[in-house]
Amino acid sequence: MPTVLITGTSSGIGKATVERFAAAGWQVVATMRQPADAADFDWPDDVLVERLDLNDANSILLAKTAAEARFGLVDVVVNNAGYGLTGAIETCSEAQVRAFFETNLFGTLRVIRTFLPQMRERDAGMLINVSSIGGRMTFPFYGYYNAGKHALESVSEAIWLELHDTGVRVKLIEPGFTQTDFATGGLQQGEHEIPFYAERIERLTQRLQQGQSGSPPTAIAEAIFRAANDPSSRLRYSAGKYAWLLLTLRRWLPDRVFMNLIRRAVAP
Ligand SMILES: NC(=O)c1ccc[n+]([C@@H]2O[C@H](COP(=O)([O-])OP(=O)(O)OC[C@H]3O[C@@H](n4cnc5c(N)ncnc54)[C@H](OP(=O)(O)O)[C@@H]3O)[C@@H](O)[C@H]2O)c1
Repeated sequence: MPTVLITGTSSGIGKATVERFAAAGWQVVATMRQPADAADFDWPDDVLVERLDLNDANSILLAKTAAEARFGLVDVVVNNAGYGLTGAIETCSEAQVRAFFETNLFGTLRVIRTFLPQMRERDAGMLINVSSIGGRMTFPFYGYYNAGKHALESVSEAIWLELHDTGVRVKLIEPGFTQTDFATGGLQQGEHEIPFYAERIERLTQRLQQGQSGSPPTAIAEAIFRAANDPSSRLRYSAGKYAWLLLTLRRWLPDRVFMNLIRRAVAP
């Protein structure tokens, strides 16, 4: 059976993804910042739980070494870990934005750089990068988060192009709103509170709470599992409710029409 290593498996989509692959008999390396978090999880004994913090390059190397010692070379790496930074472009401090990109973008790149050489050298392997519909469109007060996902999409396209004639595959999963801690944690203001935005963020929070009908994390785990089993060179997979519809509208509608649609749906 092939081996998959997944980041950010203490909750949400990452946890559901571990369960989906384990149920199919894959050799699973579940990584998280604090492995003690998995103590109560009802996972099969052969799931290997390892510490991996995106901000700690050594932890990534150690997780790779431990995975190889147990299962041999890793076939599929699922880059799922990350956190959300919300707030207006003006209200998030530079330190907040730098910390966010340091973890979500540079941390994910650290994982990619750790595993890609070995995949390229043996002409096989797959990177599955968990993006978002927000990697191809932008929502108010999610600007930095969306910018991070746009960057991940670009990097993934570059890898696809650079390795198109090899056996290495890169896949992007683009979920819509998903019921996890990440999404239900609500909108934050950012470090610099500005009354103008505070009022708008509050109004939007109330609207989002009323209309919350996201997908369960298991639906996204299913899309990740399908992508892992798709040997074709297909790059993008939408996942969860409304994701396909929104991505299709983004693709075909002129900018002005699409932006007005988003404005009416979510701008406060
Ligand atoms: N929920 C949505 O609506 C949605 C939509 C589209 C895309 N996504 C994407 O889906 C992915 C998973 O998010 P989720 O919704 O499942 O949220 P979640 O339940 O909050 O899971 C995020 C995971 O990332 C981990 N993480 C955070 N910082 C880390 C770091 N420095 N090093 C290693 N792990 C770290 C968290 O670990 P700790 O427990 O240690 O904090 C947690 O396990 C993210 O990439 C997110 O952008 C989510």
